[in-house]
Amino acid sequence: MSIWTKRHVTVVVSGGIASYKALVLIRSLMKQGAVVRVAMTTHAAKFITPLTFQTLTQQPVVIDEFTTTDPHHVVHVALADWTEVMILVPATANLIAKVANGLADDAATTTILATTAPKFVVPAMNSHMYVNPATQRNLKQLTTDGLHVLTPATGMLAEGYSGQGRLPEPAVILAWLTDQLIQLTPDLPLAGRRVVVTAGGTREALDPVRFITNRSSGKMGYAVAQVARELGATVTLISATTHLAAPSGVKVVTVDSAQSLLTAVSDIFDDTDILVMAAAVSDYRPAELADQKIKKPADHADLTLRLTETPDILKTLAARKHQQYVIGFAAETQSLLANANRKLTSKKLDLIVANDVSKPGVGFNGDTNQVTLLRPEQQPVTTELTTKTAIAKQILMTAIADGAGTQA
Ligand SMILES: Cc1cc2nc3c(=O)[nH]c(=O)nc-3n(C[C@H](O)[C@H](O)[C@H](O)COP(=O)(O)O)c2cc1C
Repeated sequence: MSIWTKRHVTVVVSGGIASYKALVLIRSLMKQGAVVRVAMTTHAAKFITPLTFQTLTQQPVVIDEFTTTDPHHVVHVALADWTEVMILVPATANLIAKVANGLADDAATTTILATTAPKFVVPAMNSHMYVNPATQRNLKQLTTDGLHVLTPATGMLAEGYSGQGRLPEPAVILAWLTDQLIQLTPDLPLAGRRVVVTAGGTREALDPVRFITNRSSGKMGYAVAQVARELGATVTLISATTHLAAPSGVKVVTVDSAQSLLTAVSDIFDDTDILVMAAAVSDYRPAELADQKIKKPADHADLTLRLTETPDILKTLAARKHQQYVIGFAAETQSLLANANRKLTSKKLDLIVANDVSKPGVGFNGDTNQVTLLRPEQQPVTTELTTKTAIAKQILMTAIADGAGTQA
């Protein structure tokens, strides 16, 4: 399930060189579960044929409202009433001008005028057209009228020179649309809740070029952050991992060592409703940090590394706990439930997510996981082996069912 699941989305395509990118966006929306229909201008059909959109969406394309053979429906009104989300992509300077002035002289603009659904506008044009005062005036009018407008990207234009006016990449457009839609959906289960997620494996420096870390990829925490955002929460992701793309609409704070992670979580803990400690925090760090790279001893003798304990973050926070619902993770290779239960009690957790990382497909690095959810005085719940996104949803829905973030 995503915020797009079963949503009726109408994509209005106008006649710009970036029309082909609408195809990629439509595919992504459909992958997220949206039901997509297309209305297009006759100029758009000079760039991409209606047949392409019709085949992709498996829905009829609206381009001409005067040649219908269906006596039961007025084409533009039927589509306008069906629409739950409308996206104008690419929006030409011409289309923007028409919409800003309420013109309805073809099927696309008439459908835009006739729908009450929220409208998202993704302009794309030559940079001189974009900065033209008329276009800027029209874009301002769209915002005043309650439409949501994405600022175009700056870069190489089809004309062979660089400037502002490029259509952002479809993934960027989708991330923006998703975030906008979340903001417009007040009844999401985590709306108004502040969720903090830690992710990734911490790094404990040994010298300026070496560190001790673990196999955590950060994928589980990133999935929790993304799902929490999709469920409407305001999310801060405290990340010890840098190679993953930040989920859209999520504030990312980058950390490296256990100590820096503790500092970052401590700073935000009082303003947190749900804390999800998915980071794999090092239990030990080198007792001494060498200021120069450690050299091999001349006699090739063994080196001994002395380790000292890092701060116990969950234990430190347990003492400061008020309204916070705290979720911990226990990655174990033996005595899974016994170890997890001990951690649940000793660290005053509300929920612990236990996984046996010695099993194939479970835990570090992969895209799948299988976990057991343990809560004080409740029966353990073991999930199927499934995607980390599905596990993240199950964890957060369990927390929501417990009233997480609503405690006094
Ligand atoms: C090759 C070519 C590329 C064009 N690219 C764009 C564009 O990216 N953005 C834009 O606003 N207009 C662009 N235009 C101009 C529009 O096609 C023109 O303004 C047209 O009237 C838009 O009609 P529509 O808004 O009904 O689709 C382009 C025209 C041509 C011939």
